[in-house]
Amino acid sequence: MPKDPLRTRFTEMLGIEFPIIAFTHCKDVAVSVINAGGFAVLGEAMHTPDEIAADIAWIRERIDGKPFGIDLVLPASVPESASLDDMIAKIPDEQRAFAEKIKKAYDVPDPKEAIALHQWGGLNQELGRAQLDVLLDERVPLIASGLGSPAFILDAAHERDMLVFGLVGKARQAKRQLEAGVDGIIAQGYDAAGHTGAVGTFSIVPEIAAIAGDTPVIAAGGVTTGQHLAAALCLGAAGVWTGTLWLACRESDVDMIIKDRLIESTNEDTSYSKSISGMTMRVLKCPWTDEWEKPEAPPVLPTPYQMLLSAEYIQASNDHRRADLMTEAAGQGVGFITSMKPARQILFDLVEEALASLEGVVGELP
Ligand SMILES: Cc1cc2nc3c(=O)[nH]c(=O)nc-3n(C[C@H](O)[C@H](O)[C@H](O)COP(=O)(O)O)c2cc1C
Repeated sequence: MPKDPLRTRFTEMLGIEFPIIAFTHCKDVAVSVINAGGFAVLGEAMHTPDEIAADIAWIRERIDGKPFGIDLVLPASVPESASLDDMIAKIPDEQRAFAEKIKKAYDVPDPKEAIALHQWGGLNQELGRAQLDVLLDERVPLIASGLGSPAFILDAAHERDMLVFGLVGKARQAKRQLEAGVDGIIAQGYDAAGHTGAVGTFSIVPEIAAIAGDTPVIAAGGVTTGQHLAAALCLGAAGVWTGTLWLACRESDVDMIIKDRLIESTNEDTSYSKSISGMTMRVLKCPWTDEWEKPEAPPVLPTPYQMLLSAEYIQASNDHRRADLMTEAAGQGVGFITSMKPARQILFDLVEEALASLEGVVGELP
């Protein structure tokens, strides 16, 4: 009897139905996906420890004991501890003047609110560790690290029966994390939204699957249809990790201006740019990314300084809902997002399309 192709090492590990992980910042999306049989990881890198604890409680109340994950960013390259003002003061005049030029050229208003970056776990190591302590105290079933190796938390997490997954863009990062003993590796390709490396999804997933042994490899980057899910399984992945797919769903709290843009966008409408955070990041094209690509643009600053520089533009665009300025992380799979569906339907569509495409290759499945 042929095996159900959607039962994988990952679904067995977590006791869930479908090998589909939603990365989202929206708690409602996370709860819908979890209750429909998928898995969700809530991005909490921008939140205070108290907010993280409250969000965990909110989710737990709604998922009847099912597992879930929380994602933080743990970059090793940022200062140990420094205040936001100290860091802003270190931004050189050349880059500051260029940001000012963009502001004038596009009539970017001042933000209405204070810059919401003071709690970003990627700002300094102290903040990241305070966030991490909440996840350990709360014994969150799965911790994912979107940036930086989570090797240093493995012992503390495993003592509490928690799983730790690392997200990587290069095989050598995967090798180091596998040697350290992570429970799963997210192999993320160039197509992906947000911070991402330069190796394509089709190349990185089988490369990492070949060295991962029994550790589940999860494919990320451009996964927006069931065909992608089927392909990921054939490449050796035990599941998919998806971000862009959920941004325009009904439950998502993303601004309608961005939802409409996502629905209209093709795979040529994203920019792979260091200009937002100082690290390569894929976002919807906007004046800020366009300007930093021009030959007269100064060098992009390292993280977190470039992030501090772009924060005012981003927040002003959002606060004033300026469609001409706004951007959001989005992957190249955005072209497949063509309507605003409920999260549950997106999940089931992915499953049905994956099974149909596998059947198209091998005939009827169980
Ligand atoms: C709006 C948005 C914000 C993101 N923010 C984070 C983040 O804070 N931490 C993180 O690890 N990944 C973040 N990501 C990346 C996702 O975790 C995921 O790796 C990526 O979306 C996968 O590519 P896809 O969008 O093509 O599915 C973000 C993605 C999106 C779409």
